[in-house]
Amino acid sequence: MTKRIKGMYDILPPESRIWRRMERTFEDVSREFGFERAATPLIERTELFSRSIGESTDIVEKEMYTFKDRRDRSLSLRPEGTASMVRAYVENKIYAADPVAKWIYSGPMYRYERPQKGRNRQFHQLGAEVFGIEGAEQDAELIAMGRLFFERLGLDGVELKLNSLGDMEERRTYREGLVTYLEGSRDALCDDCRRRLSTNPMRILDCKVPECKRISKDAPLMLDHLGPQSRTHFETVCRLLEALEIPYEIDKRIVRGLDYYNRTAFEFKSAELGAQDAVGGGGRYDSLVKTMGGPSTPAVGFALGVERIAILMENQVGEENGLDFYFVAMGRNAKERAVVLAQRLRREGLRGEVDFTDRRLKHLFARAERQNARYALILGDTELERGIVQVRDMKAKTQQEIALDELAAKTLE
Ligand code: HAM
Repeated sequence: MTKRIKGMYDILPPESRIWRRMERTFEDVSREFGFERAATPLIERTELFSRSIGESTDIVEKEMYTFKDRRDRSLSLRPEGTASMVRAYVENKIYAADPVAKWIYSGPMYRYERPQKGRNRQFHQLGAEVFGIEGAEQDAELIAMGRLFFERLGLDGVELKLNSLGDMEERRTYREGLVTYLEGSRDALCDDCRRRLSTNPMRILDCKVPECKRISKDAPLMLDHLGPQSRTHFETVCRLLEALEIPYEIDKRIVRGLDYYNRTAFEFKSAELGAQDAVGGGGRYDSLVKTMGGPSTPAVGFALGVERIAILMENQVGEENGLDFYFVAMGRNAKERAVVLAQRLRREGLRGEVDFTDRRLKHLFARAERQNARYALILGDTELERGIVQVRDMKAKTQQEIALDELAAKTLE
């Protein structure tokens, strides 16, 4: 038998119920904020990702699934969604009619990382990107949308960590100071960080190696070196989050693993997840659209990790998406009648399934239970003759008869 690829998983019932609910909730909540759906191909030219995410990021350096197509072009499976959304925004000249676009997307992303709990090689994101809006109000509102999404899923324990990465110019100056500071301990840094010193020094602040952690403990941090405009922007985001009653913690060490960010950077984290504790992350990327060939257009966005959120919702699997009825129809005549009756109930807005197998009652009830059905509707030859159906309340384990003519959504209330 051919097996699945390491780090990639099948998403099957009953867990998939949670996925469905997440998708739906994201769709609903984002629409409440005026977002539309966008979808782009899973495969893009490799240069799209290397130019936007950054040549010296872990993602581009070692995590992409890159291959040559039949005409020798380098293509990659998308490791994230933002780059493609920006490409679509620029390539389709969305800005021409209105620079403001608010898009959500969802789907699989691919990163060749070392698999562990909450870290997969194929994982799924729910993402949101806003183009054309510069103000800090948008950053706060976007965070509020993420927060509302978690609330709707009953996940109150998700924490918000906030930072500002300043503007490109401020970063350049800060970076010099940081490198000077770290140069003193160059030899004690891990191999990766020694390399990062010239390619991506801010990532050193994020390194998990104890010695690197020790060295960077007192390093200068970007948030303490913001220029006046970036500072005002950051303070406005903070003030708005307070007005929205969204708790947050300033975490000056959030650097994010992608190079395109400036100013606001944030992460949603959960203490229940262990090492891979980020359930989402995002921030502002005001120069990316221009870098990718479009007009100068500010942007801000985030992406949430579906697998990690699903872990947080594991205990909700049983409650998900039950059916209103499960038709236990025995015998040919009963089955045929049940198909018609079930359709009538669905037209009235109920959800239900008819059992077409000829298995023993025990198995049928077991499936009704797995489907989380409120009622089992039992119909056999005897019931047909009497013109009734037995209605069994699956939770209360009580049973009553209803006349077939009267079987309707309201009689099942
Ligand atoms: P990111 O922080 O790389 O940001 O990913 C966002 C989320 O995807 C993470 O917080 C995590 O929940 C999930 N995730 C990432 N890698 C894995 C993995 N290997 N296995 C499971 N889950 C994972 C971005 O991708 C940016 N595009 C977010 C963004 C949108 N920024 C602006 N707009």
